[in-house]
Amino acid sequence: MKKNQLLGICLLLSIVIFAKEGDLLISTSNTSLVLSAPVGGELQFIYYGEKVTMDEVSQIYDTGVAADCPAYPVFGIECSSEAALQVQHADGNLSLDMAITAINETESDEATLTEITMRDKVYPFEIKVVYKAYKNSDIIETWSEITHNEKKEVRLQQFSSAYLPIRKNDVWISHLQGSWANESRVVTEPLQLGMKVIKNKDGVRNSHTDHAEVMIALNGKPQEEVGQVIGAALCWGGNFRLRFETDASNYHSFFAGINEDASEYLLEANEVFVTPELALTYSNDGLGGVSRNFHEWARNEKVHGGTKERDILLNSWEGVYFDISEQGMEQMMEDIADMGGELFVMDDGWFGDKYQRNSDNSSLGDWVVDKKKLPNGIDGLVKIAEENGIKFGIWVEPEMTNTVSELYEKHPDWIICQPNREPRPGRGGTQLVLDLSNPEVQDFIYKTIDDLMAQNPDIAYIKWDANMNIANYGSSYLPANKQSHLYIDYHRGFRKVMERIRSKYPNLVIQACASGGGRANYGVLPNFDEFWVSDNTEALQRVYMQWGVSYFYPAVAMASHVGSSPNHQTGRIMPLKFRFDVAMTGRLGMEMQPKDMTNEEKVFARKAINTYKEIRPVIQQGDLYRLISPYDDKGVASLMYCTTEKERAVFFAFKTEHYHGQVIPCFHMSGLDENKLYRIIELNVEDEEPLSIKGKIFKGEFLMNVGLELPLKDEYSSRVLELVEVKLN
Ligand code: DGJ
Repeated sequence: MKKNQLLGICLLLSIVIFAKEGDLLISTSNTSLVLSAPVGGELQFIYYGEKVTMDEVSQIYDTGVAADCPAYPVFGIECSSEAALQVQHADGNLSLDMAITAINETESDEATLTEITMRDKVYPFEIKVVYKAYKNSDIIETWSEITHNEKKEVRLQQFSSAYLPIRKNDVWISHLQGSWANESRVVTEPLQLGMKVIKNKDGVRNSHTDHAEVMIALNGKPQEEVGQVIGAALCWGGNFRLRFETDASNYHSFFAGINEDASEYLLEANEVFVTPELALTYSNDGLGGVSRNFHEWARNEKVHGGTKERDILLNSWEGVYFDISEQGMEQMMEDIADMGGELFVMDDGWFGDKYQRNSDNSSLGDWVVDKKKLPNGIDGLVKIAEENGIKFGIWVEPEMTNTVSELYEKHPDWIICQPNREPRPGRGGTQLVLDLSNPEVQDFIYKTIDDLMAQNPDIAYIKWDANMNIANYGSSYLPANKQSHLYIDYHRGFRKVMERIRSKYPNLVIQACASGGGRANYGVLPNFDEFWVSDNTEALQRVYMQWGVSYFYPAVAMASHVGSSPNHQTGRIMPLKFRFDVAMTGRLGMEMQPKDMTNEEKVFARKAINTYKEIRPVIQQGDLYRLISPYDDKGVASLMYCTTEKERAVFFAFKTEHYHGQVIPCFHMSGLDENKLYRIIELNVEDEEPLSIKGKIFKGEFLMNVGLELPLKDEYSSRVLELVEVKLN
């Protein structure tokens, strides 16, 4: 044996010898989480980030990188800092002091599950902290399971899903914030002393204002393709709270979980309280790397039907609003079929017997077809769709009712309300939220969908809407001492309904809509195929919103429709090409009245729809590279999608500002194979002069490093380029 081989072995041995007993290494392909978990001792967080081997774990200690702080801090002995868990025991005691009793590791094809069970040193109270490390994506989900065997209920006062210490080093966070019709705007800010709280208290929808996801850039202002970034997404459809505490120590403390406001939970003996999963990922390739990790996991594991190709649809809402008629639906179906679309979705206004749904102030809950508007029922419409060679979809809002409805007349106790106060209605001055904590309500909602599907088995798509927040917080189903469970039990009930629907109708495509983009979250997506990004269909504003959404969600889940011009939300007038180009960066659809389009526009739309069919696999399943951010105020936005094999890509550029003397930046592509040759084809060409690069062949390296100039002359100019690998013999 050679001398340096021997030295290598000795070094290796020393590495193994110095690794600490009780260390747990939880890894995905490119990331690692290290915990110290000695049985009888405390669970400590050591490290999360770039992948390390077991041998390197000792080096984490040697270099002083080991964090060595509680992995799931509890309140009671340590009292001065923020806690993940705080409870009041049956005897009134407010403290927890936990020691590890067992560690369990199980393998499946999908993931490795590590469960660390801890028991209080005095009370029969247990916490299981779980880590699920996926095998085919760089995501580790973590959550906790809380149970006890005390004489009476234990009060859960704080119950985060997870805690993560973040080493201070000019740490920045990026998260999404907005309002109705302006959802998912990117906010980027440094973490500063004090508390930064990102939260929601809507009760029903949870992504209109703040989102339950965050990017944490570990070393300076985040960049697209460089820098270490942690991504975190709380998989919960209800109220959430993400907290960053920054004190004088070396670490920021990050907690994520259900928002405990008005949600104290009374845990019965032997009941298990399972917190929602926090999905964590890490990348050294900046925000883009983290987004791609989320997208891959979303498509393969978390979004229902995430790997299935999505149909190109026309939705009736902005075309006719409540003015539903058989003739009107037929015309829209013929028009979308003629333009090459594959699905028609009839939106609001099709139902109500005693009370006709002509506006937003009645009939929710009365899910019977309005025979005056649709004499041949839904069946008649499904037949028309079939005759036109397209599929049929329908809008519902099953979690809601109106004071003006037969449902409310029959079941006034099914709504969320305090018994001794008048209900506070929402939309239309009459809308109310049904109490999904009540199993009878859950059954009713399930039956609504089940009956609809039994009567019309060929319905291919459901747009599931939810247009109100919880007001009059109170349940006539929950007992007096558990009124504070409503926010949580609403979403548990919702999930139960969706799981029942899913087990019977696995192939039905279901969109999560909630007054626009109120349900873009991983809590609901296991049962939904996609979400509506916003009620704002204006393409320019969509560039910003969809950019934000793309931080965490894949294009396949992002419903993105071509709206009218002038746009119904902003009044902006813009070319059809720009509107199509923007919508084609997600799951393409149309949301307008086709009969108002000119023949020329229809010709363009037909061509664009056919083009989308060709590039659909690249957009819906490809890897996203964001090139120039609209938030950087460079007057343009640009992004591209590449297949995993990097043999095809689609590039988009949008002009977001327009003024004389404007400097348009040079475009540098990303995500290509440096050594592959690509032919450039321009798509959705209108009447611009052909690009000088049209049909030419370039090396990937050149397109990424040298870049290209693109003429974007007019206001709302945009360009779409397809890149196809060329193999020269
Ligand atoms: C709100 C949704 O976001 C819209 O797209 C539309 O479906 C309306 N509800 C219908 O009432």
